[in-house]
Amino acid sequence: MKAKRFLFLRFTQAAFLGLVLFCLVPCAGGITPAQALVEQKPLAVSQKGATYVGTETCLSCHEDQGKTFKLSPHAKIAGKGSTDEANGCEICHGPGSIHAENGGGKGNAIINPKKDPTICFTCHMEKKMEFRLPNHHPVLEGKMSCTDCHNMHSEDAKPWSATSMEGPNEVCFKCHKDQQGPFVYEHPAMREGCTTCHKVHGSINAKMLLARDFNLCLKCHAQANFPTLVEDDDHTNNMKRSGACWTCHTKPHGSNFASKFTY
Ligand code: HEC
Ligand code: HEC
Ligand code: HEC
Ligand code: HEC
Ligand code: HEC
Ligand code: HEC
Ligand code: HEC
Ligand code: HEC
Repeated sequence: MKAKRFLFLRFTQAAFLGLVLFCLVPCAGGITPAQALVEQKPLAVSQKGATYVGTETCLSCHEDQGKTFKLSPHAKIAGKGSTDEANGCEICHGPGSIHAENGGGKGNAIINPKKDPTICFTCHMEKKMEFRLPNHHPVLEGKMSCTDCHNMHSEDAKPWSATSMEGPNEVCFKCHKDQQGPFVYEHPAMREGCTTCHKVHGSINAKMLLARDFNLCLKCHAQANFPTLVEDDDHTNNMKRSGACWTCHTKPHGSNFASKFTY
């Protein structure tokens, strides 16, 4: 029932997003989402009346951000090189003419999405919905930022890259030291990354888990060719009764005491 309702929600969200995009883009005369936001949302007073100046202008003062940004997925979207519309840096930072004319400066006529991710949601609206699910990282509450996990100016906006499997969990360990180990008995599932079991923006399940019951674990532990098939009848019956494997395997990340992660 819950799962069905969730699916239905996802469907209505998608439909809603489609509707918004459908209205926004043509009704506003082909403007980019970033511009649409600028027109909807009251801006910092100093940014009112600002126009787009283009990435090259930004780079004349912010060389650092430019070095890797050209490889970023965001460098490839929108933007036809025209200064009349948002592209490059200004899809996230808003129109920068006043900021540039004033010689820049902190808080000076430029959006910094670290403090407020609203601009990200103009394009990633479904992410906002995820952060509203009952269990979520407190981004909308202003206690953390998208950039705690995502690097906006680098080649990979995701917290890791295909070339470094080292990376996936590192970003989480900044704040979650208990899961880092090293453990005497390591659960190999950790090598697949935290997202094997957690939905990190938000989830309907406690602890942001992907599934609330034994299905979370059985996606690996029930595979026919899996090395540790759980065949013992008592064990299987216990599992079914208790619902979640971690009522007994209380250390699913790894343990220093028990090879079966029971304590
Ligand atoms: C996909 C969105 C996005 C794009 C595109 C983007 N930025 Fe940013 N930028 C951010 C976010 C989020 C922050 C705040 C967190 C941080 O410092 O990484 C930020 C911060 C900054 C800062 C402040 C850094 C600091 O240390 O306080 C500068 C300067 C900056 N960006 C310049 C640029 C330039 C120049 C470009 C284009 C080459 C660009 N940004 C493109 C999202 C973006
Ligand atoms: C004339 C030089 C100059 C130009 C051009 C310029 N900036 Fe800046 N910008 C600065 C300076 C100086 C700062 C303050 C840096 C600091 O305090 O660390 C700054 C700060 C910022 C910040 C951080 C603001 C904050 O409140 O944290 C962002 C984001 C930013 N610039 C983005 C841009 C973008 C995007 C462009 C192009 C539209 C751009 N800048 C063009 C000089 C410039
Ligand atoms: C103008 C629209 C737009 C804005 C604004 C925007 N994004 Fe994106 N973003 C995109 C698109 C389109 C993609 C998909 C790019 C692709 O798949 O090549 C993307 C991809 C991403 C990805 C996945 C990258 C990957 O490697 O798969 C992350 C993470 C992301 N954006 C985060 C953010 C954050 C955080 C912000 C705000 C600071 C933001 N975006 C602002 C349009 C936008
Ligand atoms: C706690 C860390 C964390 C925070 C905070 C976070 N993200 Fe993510 N994000 C991730 C991880 C991990 C993934 C990869 C998910 C996966 O592969 O299952 C991801 C994936 C994405 C993607 C790629 C599409 C997808 O779902 O795979 C986008 C877009 C994105 N995040 C946007 C955002 C935006 C926008 C914010 C802020 C409003 C944000 N994220 C905050 C960790 C985070
Ligand atoms: C900048 C710090 C920070 C980073 C980075 C971070 N988290 Fe978190 N995490 C938090 C905070 C804050 C909470 C909320 C704790 C609360 O509500 O009591 C949380 C909660 C959680 C929870 C739920 C805990 C509970 O008791 O309900 C899980 C699971 C989690 N994070 C996993 C991750 C994963 C996986 C990553 C990496 C993709 C990650 N976190 C990255 C700060 C962070
Ligand atoms: C094999 C699945 C699995 C993987 C992989 C996994 N977790 Fe968990 N995690 C769980 C389960 C199950 C719980 C709930 C435990 C409970 O409620 O007793 C949990 C709970 C948590 C909590 C809440 C505190 C706690 O220990 O109960 C945090 C924080 C957390 N995980 C972070 C992470 C981080 C960070 C990673 C990646 C380094 C990660 N998890 C990888 C299954 C996993
Ligand atoms: C990504 C796949 C994956 C997921 C998901 C997963 N595991 Fe595992 N698990 C493994 C692998 C691989 C091993 C090591 C098997 C071996 O050594 O033969 C293992 C080993 C174990 C062991 C120790 C077995 C032994 O004989 O030493 C226990 C207990 C265990 N997992 C419990 C769980 C629980 C509980 C969950 C759910 C919270 C879970 N696993 C989710 C892959 C996974
Ligand atoms: C009622 C408690 C309980 C529940 C629920 C439970 N287990 Fe176990 N499990 C145990 C105990 C006890 C052991 C044996 C521990 C030992 O030998 O130290 C064990 C052993 C294991 C082993 C190792 C098997 C082997 O052959 O060595 C795996 C794998 C495992 N459990 C996975 C799971 C999974 C997956 C779930 C959920 C589907 C689950 N368990 C639910 C108590 C439980």
